[in-house]
Amino acid sequence: MTDAPLPELMPDASVADPHAHLDPAALRHADSLKWTLYPEGVIPLWVADMDYPVAPPILTALQDRLTRGLGYHQLLGDTALTELLGQHLATQGLTDVPEGGMVFLPGVVPGLYAAIHALTQPGEPVLTMTPIYHPFHLGITDLGRRVAAAPLLEGETRWEIDWEGLEAAAQGTRLLMLCHPHNPTGRVWDAEELRRLRDFARSHDLYVVSDELHADLRFTDAPFEAFAADPRVRDRTVTLTGPCKAYNTAGLGIGAMVGHDADLVKRVRGAAGGLMGHPSALSVTMWKAALRDGGPWLEGTLKYLRGNRDVLAAFLLARLPWVRFTTPEATYLAWLDLRAHPRAEDIQKFLLEEARIAVHDGPVFAHAELKPEYQGFVRLNFATSRPLLIEALERMADALGGEDMGQR
Ligand SMILES: Cc1ncc(COP(=O)(O)O)c(C=O)c1O
Repeated sequence: MTDAPLPELMPDASVADPHAHLDPAALRHADSLKWTLYPEGVIPLWVADMDYPVAPPILTALQDRLTRGLGYHQLLGDTALTELLGQHLATQGLTDVPEGGMVFLPGVVPGLYAAIHALTQPGEPVLTMTPIYHPFHLGITDLGRRVAAAPLLEGETRWEIDWEGLEAAAQGTRLLMLCHPHNPTGRVWDAEELRRLRDFARSHDLYVVSDELHADLRFTDAPFEAFAADPRVRDRTVTLTGPCKAYNTAGLGIGAMVGHDADLVKRVRGAAGGLMGHPSALSVTMWKAALRDGGPWLEGTLKYLRGNRDVLAAFLLARLPWVRFTTPEATYLAWLDLRAHPRAEDIQKFLLEEARIAVHDGPVFAHAELKPEYQGFVRLNFATSRPLLIEALERMADALGGEDMGQR
């Protein structure tokens, strides 16, 4: 143990905003999945929700909307959401979206399932890269397809695509499921990687479903480049997006599918038919308010999250130097490699019982065949207040110990 706390680990007293002052007793409300799945006293750092209150412009818009009736929402006539989202996506390279190229969904996951259903046949392999946000591989197997996965490679400073592995796994596949930015590693695929991925999709004649839900949660100043920013892949790609990660609104369920081939969008949306449902009036109101007036809140939140990310990195280096960790470029998720620990084989349970923190277990992020590869990894959600994060990290260090387990 270090004697004095490092200055970087101190709560940032200058941040006098609601992000910094969270009360676990209030967060542990019966309607919060994140805070009630585990017993009282456990700090929940698992499901990808932030602990912060609703952004004020969203709250105001919802309150105003509730002064009127809540009948079916007129999505076709109310073009404001289409226009606002279109303007936003254009800044990421998704320009010139044609009529019929943007449809609204009750969430992003239904879009993932619809794409698998529409673009592949039962029994076929579907291509992705692991570790991966679990509904990717669950969608593939739930719908009777097979996962064809190329595990990412753990580089010194970032997770990398295994191009040879991807080539080998692509055999017989028709659909690439891409996560950009990537959950759980926090990678934002860079221009060169995107170029190679696009060439790859073209040479293998693949459809691509690009889940870009975390695009607005980036810590880099570089503009975000959508996979379909390049016209050469636009006819084979559908992009999925939504407000729920950046604005912490998963409880209001809404997403969008965007593509430049309106027939492809229609085919994917149509595959789900009436099973898909439609977004609620409140979710439409929320997303419009987020796009129109949510910018300053998001900017402040990103600043706070970046501070948390840096505290986490400094803490690991100082107190748990044997934990392998690459700094996420986006998302509030950290993918930690704890395989060097003697309890790696049940690390999630160990942390729950001994540190009283709840994280996601690594094997969740792969299908059956590859689960063992990720035993000893955990995904930690750092979107809480700095004092709660530091408390969780202190508990983790006390339980895991092992400064003497060597340097990374
Ligand atoms: C990459 C990714 N896609 C989709 C989702 C879920 O989206 P939705 O709640 O809109 O279905 C998440 C949630 O964490 C996610 O990380």
